[in-house]
Amino acid sequence: MSKKVTAIEWLRDESGYQLILLDQTLLPGRREFIVCRNVELVWEAIKMLRVRGAPAIGISAAYGVCLAALSAPSATSDGVAVAALRAADYLATSRPTAVNLFWALDRMRAVIGQHHSSDRDLIQKALIEEALRIHEEDRQMCHAIGSHGATLLADKSVIITHCNAGGLATAEYGTALSVIFTCQDLGKQVQVFADETRPLWQGSRLTAWELLERRIPTTVICDSMAAHVMQTKNIDAVIVGADRITARGDVANKIGTYGLAVAAKYHSVPFYVAAPSSTFDLTLQHGREIPIEQRDPAEVIAPYGHTLAPVGVDVYNPAFDVTPAELITALITERGIIQPVEGGNIRTILNANA
Ligand code: MRU
Repeated sequence: MSKKVTAIEWLRDESGYQLILLDQTLLPGRREFIVCRNVELVWEAIKMLRVRGAPAIGISAAYGVCLAALSAPSATSDGVAVAALRAADYLATSRPTAVNLFWALDRMRAVIGQHHSSDRDLIQKALIEEALRIHEEDRQMCHAIGSHGATLLADKSVIITHCNAGGLATAEYGTALSVIFTCQDLGKQVQVFADETRPLWQGSRLTAWELLERRIPTTVICDSMAAHVMQTKNIDAVIVGADRITARGDVANKIGTYGLAVAAKYHSVPFYVAAPSSTFDLTLQHGREIPIEQRDPAEVIAPYGHTLAPVGVDVYNPAFDVTPAELITALITERGIIQPVEGGNIRTILNANA
């Protein structure tokens, strides 16, 4: 059985409730935890990618709303509701692309709406219960994604993955990596090429770390090597995660995913996207409508303090790109496999198995 990676924990001790986050910016060198007792620390952790990955951002934000509700100075439920709503609006400004953030915050807002006039303890309790439910549901969705996805891979498959869509990015097990971990649990051998994932190396720092923890044969490659690897090694599939999927099946994911999909198409390698239903944004049709986060230029030219380009040079640093549905072989969700990827199929699978 594979080891679990726990990136997010909600705890209570004599000093009160706290959200414990594994600081992913320090991995793989150091395993340190941040103790969040207020919503500002949760916002900072999301913004700075200490906690990252679409589902993990949503779960953390839900707990952030709880922390704000618990520390609200007001003695009335209305006062708690106002503080919680303010926290939800504030957390929504942390990162724009992963729809799981907004999905989780909307769920918390709905609970605030239902308990606006109940007493202070009740609204706090209801918010904590909802955050715990969001967390637990993600755990279950990830395992179901793995079970569906594992049916697509034969024994001895060789996979390319990009960024980190593993246990660190979710409640547990991951989305793309859940498919690989489930194959391992079923006794299928899988070998993985992990794109390092510039500019912040989520692939080499986090995915390679998770895969090695589970003793899965893993080879790190620079992003620019992926097409060559498809041309020269027998790659059976590419599997990645997603930050937002539109009604027609366009997928926003970590920058570099689109190029990987283009190369996969050219080499006739199946390109799979694994994501829970909470990553779908059916209010958007086309990928160009997805807000793409622009990040600090320093991540490109001086990552982690190492200067890699001349001072003063212009930098473009979009954190995500959009892969059109046409390049995606199948979407692997907890509700089933969507193939071919088109609007009708997406609605059928998401609605039929809700
Ligand atoms: O900027 P990040 O590290 O939050 O980007 C994460 C990704 O792009 C993941 O692939 C995606 O969120 C899926 S996580 C299961």
